[in-house]
Amino acid sequence: MNDRTEADKAQTEAAPIAIMFVVARAENGVIGRNNTMPWRLKSDLQHFRALTIGKPVVMGRKTFVSIGRPLKGRSNIVVSRNPHFAAAGIIVAPNVDSALSVARGEALRQGAGAIAIIGGAEIFAQTMPLAGRIEMTLVHDRPEGDTYFPDIDQATWSEISRSRHPKGASDSAPYSFVTYERAGSPGNRDRWIAARHERAL
Ligand SMILES: NC(=O)c1ccc[n+]([C@@H]2O[C@H](COP(=O)([O-])OP(=O)(O)OC[C@H]3O[C@@H](n4cnc5c(N)ncnc54)[C@H](OP(=O)(O)O)[C@@H]3O)[C@@H](O)[C@H]2O)c1
Repeated sequence: MNDRTEADKAQTEAAPIAIMFVVARAENGVIGRNNTMPWRLKSDLQHFRALTIGKPVVMGRKTFVSIGRPLKGRSNIVVSRNPHFAAAGIIVAPNVDSALSVARGEALRQGAGAIAIIGGAEIFAQTMPLAGRIEMTLVHDRPEGDTYFPDIDQATWSEISRSRHPKGASDSAPYSFVTYERAGSPGNRDRWIAARHERAL
């Protein structure tokens, strides 16, 4: 009985936890300006919530400050080199590895199946090799900015879905939801479908 429990525990610990990026990017690569987003897209806020709810979210300290509060219904893990940085409702991690390790533990504990990395540019740049999926909102605008997300490398990423939407009453631009999966990662897609199915139950 004890052996079985240990085996189950080992399997749970080895369970794959997918890493997804959730990013909104303008056609010129801009994702931010003056520590905020240079557009107003209420429709994307709803999309962002649907994608991330129930999953641990990992973000840089500047992104957390920009949001101004923890995101409800999600474990908020904030990366900062400042050992004194703290805020109610978040877990502060001193580096990216530690943040991902905490996020993985939270995902396993909550049966989440995936971790969402939500920016900003510094955190995206450091975790790009680990991401299996990118959920991108492509904002059909070319605003001025000071923070960028790189072009999607077509050799690394396969586009698996795209839907274009006109700008809504509370949106400053039309937008498309685009999903990319890392090319050549067999089983990645099945894993994502399984994770979505679990969440739907
Ligand atoms: N459009 C989008 O989807 C989107 C998403 C997120 C953010 N944004 C925008 O992007 C901008 C913020 O992005 P950003 O790149 O400037 O900042 P960021 O990635 O949000 O945060 C950078 C901070 O994270 C911490 N950090 C980074 N690497 C670290 C490491 N290896 N170890 C420990 N701590 C580390 C440092 O915090 P300390 O300084 O405290 O040490 C650093 O100053 C804002 O304009 C925001 O609105 C846009």
